[in-house]
Amino acid sequence: MCAIAKTDLLPPDADGIARACAYLRDGGLVAMPTETVYGLAADARNDRAVARIFEAKGRPRFNPLIVHVTGIKAAQQWVEWSEAADRLAGAFWPGPLTLVLPLKPDTGLSPLVTAGLETLAVRAPAHPLARALLEAFDGPLAAPSANPSGRISPTTPTHVMAGLGGRIEAVLDGGACGVGVESTIVGLFERPTLLRPGGLPLEALEAALGAPLAMHEAGDGISAPGQLQSHYAPGATVRLNAHEKRAGEKLLGFGPVAGADLNLSPGGDLTEAAANLFAMLHAIDDGVSPIAVSPVPDHGLGRAINDRLRRAAAPRG
Ligand code: TXA
Ligand code: MG
Repeated sequence: MCAIAKTDLLPPDADGIARACAYLRDGGLVAMPTETVYGLAADARNDRAVARIFEAKGRPRFNPLIVHVTGIKAAQQWVEWSEAADRLAGAFWPGPLTLVLPLKPDTGLSPLVTAGLETLAVRAPAHPLARALLEAFDGPLAAPSANPSGRISPTTPTHVMAGLGGRIEAVLDGGACGVGVESTIVGLFERPTLLRPGGLPLEALEAALGAPLAMHEAGDGISAPGQLQSHYAPGATVRLNAHEKRAGEKLLGFGPVAGADLNLSPGGDLTEAAANLFAMLHAIDDGVSPIAVSPVPDHGLGRAINDRLRRAAAPRG
């Protein structure tokens, strides 16, 4: 756990924005007000910063994160845009609407942001401070709600401080959030699908689309919208808790192990391991050689790493 001496409460002015930006450029975590709820922002291109989001929230899983952008043009850098995206973003951005679209190749975004998926959630928030921060930062900000995992989303700086004070660099003080519930999430797949109801009503979306949205049915075994599509699983089989490398295997190490083809963290640092996880799973996978993975301790970020590894190792349907 990365303890911070003191979480800065930054004023809602040019100085506050400049200091928030400096923290973000350094790989720090800054809670920013949006019109829905406070988001815990990090540079979406910085693996280690994104890993720290999961660490600070104590998330037991790598759920994919929303990338916050200034608008349509910025979003088009990261996702394959479509006519439906144009309609919805044209009508409701900036605002409480998140769109899930196919991820472009080679974006330079941390694979931790998408949890290895080939889609990306993007949203242009309307809150003036979020917009000012995005403009000053001039890059993509990954931000889940700024609450510890399992707790309700924060709508005031006091909520954020109570949950995450001492674990993040700063909170940008924007007072209370206007909308108070998270954004509505729409997946623009073959059929536009409502993935999470939220601050933008369904009726408004359907009117702009000119067609009804498909519903993501509860009870179909999907626990969170990010689980809708199967997460990246290596082509080769995966053997966990491997204490040795067997003939023909590739070894993904953790800690000071001998003979690793790649090592999540030779020094045994869980934040570094999380930051490397998806990129190294991709890199080590030749589609044929079985992948052995060293034991990873099951505490802190190790729980999320092990959850992801178990799913990578699960028998394929
Ligand atoms: O209003 C909001 O949306 C706030 C503010 C900060 O923007 N953010 C927020 O983020 O609620 P979070 O991480 O608490 O919820 C995002 C949801 C998660 O349930 C995640 O599974 C889903 O979005 N999600 C993210 N990327 C996805 C993807 N590629 N496919 C499907 N679901 C995705
Ligand atoms: Mg949340």
